[in-house]
Amino acid sequence: MKQAKERLILALDTHEKVYALEIVDRFDGLIDIFKVGLELFTSAGPSVIEEIHKRGKRVFLDLKFHDIPNTMARAGLQAARMGVFMFNVHSSSGFEAMRRVAADVVELCLKENLNRPRMLGVTVLTSMSQDELKELGIQHSLKTQVKHLAALAQKAGLDGVVASAQEIEAIRGHCGEKFIITTPGIRPSWSPPDDQKRTVTPRKAIHLGADFIVLGRAVLAQPDPVKALELITLEIMTA
Ligand code: C5P
Repeated sequence: MKQAKERLILALDTHEKVYALEIVDRFDGLIDIFKVGLELFTSAGPSVIEEIHKRGKRVFLDLKFHDIPNTMARAGLQAARMGVFMFNVHSSSGFEAMRRVAADVVELCLKENLNRPRMLGVTVLTSMSQDELKELGIQHSLKTQVKHLAALAQKAGLDGVVASAQEIEAIRGHCGEKFIITTPGIRPSWSPPDDQKRTVTPRKAIHLGADFIVLGRAVLAQPDPVKALELITLEIMTA
């Protein structure tokens, strides 16, 4: 069994760089991977990633690229050059975009002797329900859509996907044991769902075989965030 901290990712969902780095310092020893998403990257840029790296921690760059293949591939190269541990793209950007990202990043890392980041495809956001998917014009079930996008991401050469833990079994059945599954939408029984729809408890997510679980408000919106994380860690260790 891997240690909890090898599986936990803490989302630095703030626009304040100073506060983000305070969180990194406060969770020293408890969290090794921090997620930099749209809010923080838009306000602080690559320098916040450098600062996190200086502290010896790893970064999951959660910018969910979604653009034409050339633009996505070039953005992927920059993510690799920043030395992030993992980054993601939207699988719905299509096979060719994902294929270009994977191929170009692999080539760059070999050529420049860089550590290759893990590359994930976002399937269906955990904030989406079956009805919302229908609203977008997708008629088949949410699970079918997740399975379909996961298989496409794998065929394109990505290392894994972001999905709800509710879909782990379906994805594993399709993509095998080595395919990385990162699951946001994690809520212990004592925390509210907020805007997330397909939530799963930390214990259940680990039990179902999540490789990484993303924690956001379930930790940082609690009165005592460190205590909240300790409770979650305990929950996982006894899963
Ligand atoms: O606070 P909460 O636990 O809901 O935070 C989840 C984090 O994971 C947010 O930063 C959100 O942007 C991100 N995320 C997500 N669903 C995805 C991919 C990323 O909620 N499919």
